[in-house]
Amino acid sequence: MRLFKGVSGIEKGLFFFFLDFHGFYVLSLEDLPAIQAFHIVNAVSSSDDLGAGMLAGLHMQHFNEIYSNRPPRHVKPLLQLTPRGALQSWLMPFPTHRLRRLRTTPAMRALVRETHIEPSQFILPLFVCPGEGVRREIGSMPGNYQLSIDELVKECEEVHSLGIGGVILFGLPEAKDEMASGAYDDNGIVQRAIRAVRRETPELLLVTDVCNCEYTSHGHCGYIIDGDVDNDTTLQWLAKSALSHARAGAHIVAPSDMMDGRVWAIRQALDANGYEKIPVMSYAAKFASVFYGPFREAAESTPQFGDRRSYQMDPANGREAMREIELDLQEGADIVMVKPALAYLDLIRQARDRFDVPIAAYQVSGEYAMIVAAARNGWIDQERAMLETLTAIRRAGASIILTYFAKAAARVLG
Ligand code: PBG
Repeated sequence: MRLFKGVSGIEKGLFFFFLDFHGFYVLSLEDLPAIQAFHIVNAVSSSDDLGAGMLAGLHMQHFNEIYSNRPPRHVKPLLQLTPRGALQSWLMPFPTHRLRRLRTTPAMRALVRETHIEPSQFILPLFVCPGEGVRREIGSMPGNYQLSIDELVKECEEVHSLGIGGVILFGLPEAKDEMASGAYDDNGIVQRAIRAVRRETPELLLVTDVCNCEYTSHGHCGYIIDGDVDNDTTLQWLAKSALSHARAGAHIVAPSDMMDGRVWAIRQALDANGYEKIPVMSYAAKFASVFYGPFREAAESTPQFGDRRSYQMDPANGREAMREIELDLQEGADIVMVKPALAYLDLIRQARDRFDVPIAAYQVSGEYAMIVAAARNGWIDQERAMLETLTAIRRAGASIILTYFAKAAARVLG
């Protein structure tokens, strides 16, 4: 019975051996119905006298009854007998190998932990809005706020004192128009915010989101012609925005619009104006995702018509994501991002394996909101869900994580 318990949860990789007058056999459990497995294991006596690794003393009669009618592939006549030591480590992992040995205590688990998360790897998204003393909580993203510049400055001091890697700024302009003029105005909301934060917390790493959707009256990420975003006109806005951010003091610019050629356009504009040292972190594989919902409330950037599927990626396309990343790198991206994170961990891993550049992942607003909402209902432990998801994103291969949990996680990690 004890053995049955140990065996029942394992479908693959476990084999039974048995020895009779004709030879030595190996049977895979994989294709045996559970009930038969039960009979076998039940019939197996303690392996003590036969040495580790051998489930022996098989009840031959019973066994033959069950297997006499099975097609031959189920009973693979096997290998010659090998020395017991070789069998032990190669063919029969249990009971030689017991992975639970390294899980016994917190110290033991810490010793063998493969993936670590640190506050310095996090980037906290922040929303800056007009006014003074404004700290307006975002309904669908509890614990996140629209902040006026004075409040943003305070927030950034706290973020810095928590050892968080940096912040990424999103702007809510005073007014929106068809030309997204607030995006590339040297006196725009983000540009002023950058200068203010640089003055008070000069060491904090400032990333800016380069996009137009918060600045256009229609909420799309660029200039509209015939109901669709015109790629090449939009490139000019993006280049101007990135340049104005750099001029204001941004450390990294991060285009999130998904126009073709934007990394190239931005790189040209920066280099031509003496900002060749400013890196581009490209939202390279950004999907048309439902998980951006809460962000659009936060940034007031919901498209007034249609959706973003003519520029953001189809969630079904992994190979195309690799092409997006490759092209952005050719255009001069320094860091590439996969966004969202949790539903795209496979692509984070593929990107990590294929490209030798820092990989960022964005745990987006909807991912945050789902965890917080479930926790508020008492359905999930928020802190553990936060740490588990951040760890999973790291394990998949991201070295930088944009997350609304940055402060909370930094507090837990100390
Ligand atoms: C702007 C932008 C968006 C996000 C980051 N930059 C929204 C969108 O593309 O609709 C989403 C971030 C989030 O959901 O947390 N283009």
